[in-house]
Amino acid sequence: MQLNIYKNYQELSEQVARQILQQVIDKPEAVICMASGDTPKLTCQLLAAMAAKEGTDFSRATFIGLDEWLGIPPDNTGSCHYFLHHYLFEPLRLATGQVFVFDALTANPAKACADMDAVIAEKGGIDLMIVGIGMNGHIGFNEPGVSFNLHAHVIDLDETTITVGQKYFAEPVPLSQGITLGLQHLLDARKAIVIANGAKKAGIIYKTIHNKIGNDIPATVIRLHNNGEIAIDEEAASMLTR
Ligand code: PGA
Repeated sequence: MQLNIYKNYQELSEQVARQILQQVIDKPEAVICMASGDTPKLTCQLLAAMAAKEGTDFSRATFIGLDEWLGIPPDNTGSCHYFLHHYLFEPLRLATGQVFVFDALTANPAKACADMDAVIAEKGGIDLMIVGIGMNGHIGFNEPGVSFNLHAHVIDLDETTITVGQKYFAEPVPLSQGITLGLQHLLDARKAIVIANGAKKAGIIYKTIHNKIGNDIPATVIRLHNNGEIAIDEEAASMLTR
């Protein structure tokens, strides 16, 4: 596993955006899984700007949304659906057939999970997976205690996620379950990058790197990935001993 520490959020985001762009240049039909949230926001914005400036052709790429709050409508500005469309899919002018996100309102979540697994398998697997890390060490909605070997699944949200998750919403919302790609997807991805910025992530980044690998800190899974990377800014790295 590689650890890359960048000076600040801007530099971190530029580097990650550049890696996504390069992935699509190297393999135009790349399958990219993208997280939503505060951490990847600038990466998405910079990627869209770079792609426009450099005229990169995204028309053959596929984008997969990492997760979603079950029951939250797609037009809610706090939904992952809204985030990905607003910050990434629309600016990159991706066609409907190029993007796959979980339907938060599905009557059949198990089928939605099976369908997502099938799409990823049909497309030949994920080339590049960019994920954030929760304050409790979750990746996507793979909450503490989750098995490392799951594909897409529905999960009861951890108390920390329910509390912290309110930050995305204009008004308080009841959050109880998530639908998410599994950590097996991360392990199977050809390249996986965990990104984090800010001093508030310093503690969980320390644990992700130094604790025993295990599902009490799901993000420790990245250390099992043979092409895994942790990309953080100096504030998120501030508890690490150099
Ligand atoms: P954040 O969320 O990027 O908004 O900090 C990270 C996460 O919970 O995965």
